[in-house]
Parts: sequence; structure tokens; C-alpha cells
Amino acid sequence: MTDSNQQSPDAPDANALRQREIRSFVLRQGRLTSGQASAMSNLMPKYGFYLEQDWTSEFKRDVVLEIGIGNGDALIACAADDPARDYLGAEVHAPGVGRALLGIKANSLSNVRVFHGDAVVLLRKQVPNQSLAQINIWFPDPWHKARHNKRRLIQAEFVELLADKLKPNGVLHLATDWEPYADHMREVLEANNHFLALEGSAMDEIRNRRPNTHFERRGVKLGHGVWDLLYRKR
Ligand SMILES: C[S@@+](CC[C@H](N)C(=O)[O-])C[C@H]1O[C@@H](n2cnc3c(N)ncnc32)[C@H](O)[C@@H]1O
Repeated sequence: MTDSNQQSPDAPDANALRQREIRSFVLRQGRLTSGQASAMSNLMPKYGFYLEQDWTSEFKRDVVLEIGIGNGDALIACAADDPARDYLGAEVHAPGVGRALLGIKANSLSNVRVFHGDAVVLLRKQVPNQSLAQINIWFPDPWHKARHNKRRLIQAEFVELLADKLKPNGVLHLATDWEPYADHMREVLEANNHFLALEGSAMDEIRNRRPNTHFERRGVKLGHGVWDLLYRKR
């Protein structure tokens, strides 16, 4: 069974996307396992978050948003480790969403939800301003080729949107295994006067709570370094 048979209402629609702006992902026809397919049908109603849902009635505690959860392992680990906060993971690819849903159930977690769709749309349409305690964007697609750099998620306009959505003192945690992207992230964040770079023990404390991710392990195997960049919203 493929993605197209398991569309959540907010899953990106190929026709609509063609007419939209440059996007940070390419929709691949990922194959769902039968377990993931059944999770998309049976667990999404319980653990999913949809665009038409009311944010304030769904989330009453501090919320951490992870953008681009991949296989969802880091999201599950963070939520299990931090029961006092609510976690929301956004991902466009159905197999990752299905896997995350299975992980939520297997770990009996009640503080994590998954949005199947474009995080840019979620942020613009549904996340109230000044509502997020933390945003994690770990190993976003680096779009290595110069002509594709414009597809990188971290861009001035997007970072401005993140600043709108974070609470004062909210944290933005970025990580990448691609040094030119780390340099680009730093430049974009330094140019935005809503953010202050965290350093020393303030940085280490948050950095050390980040679980290793699937893409991080892949990068490290290829001999890549890892750059964590942390900022606090002023
Ligand atoms: C390189 S992977 C990293 C996944 C995971 N964070 C990890 O480290 O293993 C980047 C992920 O971001 C997702 N992604 C890219 N742009 C996105 C967007 N605008 N909204 C939601 N997910 C997005 C991709 O589908 C992909 O799964």
C-alpha cells in the first residue's frame, strides 16, 4: 500500500503544491508497512492533530514542536523523557507518521501528537502566535546543491514565522550534519533580532537532552560532523 491510499486530510496534495511556493521537501511515494497503514487509519484519530482542530482546546500545557520527525524515534524519546510537556511532531511522509503513531501506542504516551503535512502550513494556519515553548528542527534536508539551497527550511522568512510562534524565552534548537548548512543557519539567525544564541552550560543542558536521530547516525557513518545551534527568543 502506498502513501496515496493513506492520505490524512492535511497530507500535502500534489496539485495544490505545484501551485504553491518553493517547498522544503519532495513527496516520495513511500511504501507503508501493513502496521503503518493500519496505524494511519486507526491511530491517527487518537494521536493525530489536524488543521481543523482547535489548538487551545487540544494543548493546555507547554508545547514542543518538532519539524521533520523522519521515523519519529527522537520525538518518542523526547516525549517519554519529558512527561510535563506536550509534544507535536510534523512530517510530510506517511511511513514516518505511521511509524511514529505505532511508537506512541507502544510506549503508552499521552503527551505526543503527530501532524501529517507541511509544517509551514501548520504554523501559518493553526499555531497561535506566542504559543510554543520550543521548536526542534533536527537534521533538516540540507539541499546540498547550490541551485537547491533555496529549498532549505531555514530561511529568513521562515525564521521570522518561528519567532512569531515561540513564546518569549522559547527555545529554537537546530541541528545539522552539513557544515555549509550550519553556517547558513547561523547567518540567518544572527540577522534576526528576535533570537539570542545560547552558549555554555545553558546550551549544553538542552543540547545534551537531544536524542541521536536516524539521519544523524547516517551522517556520522559517512564521516560528517554534527552542529547543534540553540537560540532563545528575546
Ligand atoms: C533529513 S530528514 C531528518 C529526519 C529526522 N529529523 C532525523 O534526523 O532523522 C528531514 C525530514 O523533514 C521532513 N520535512 C521536510 N520539510 C518538511 C515540512 N515543511 N514539513 C514537515 N516535514 C518536512 C522530510 O520529509 C524528512 O522526513
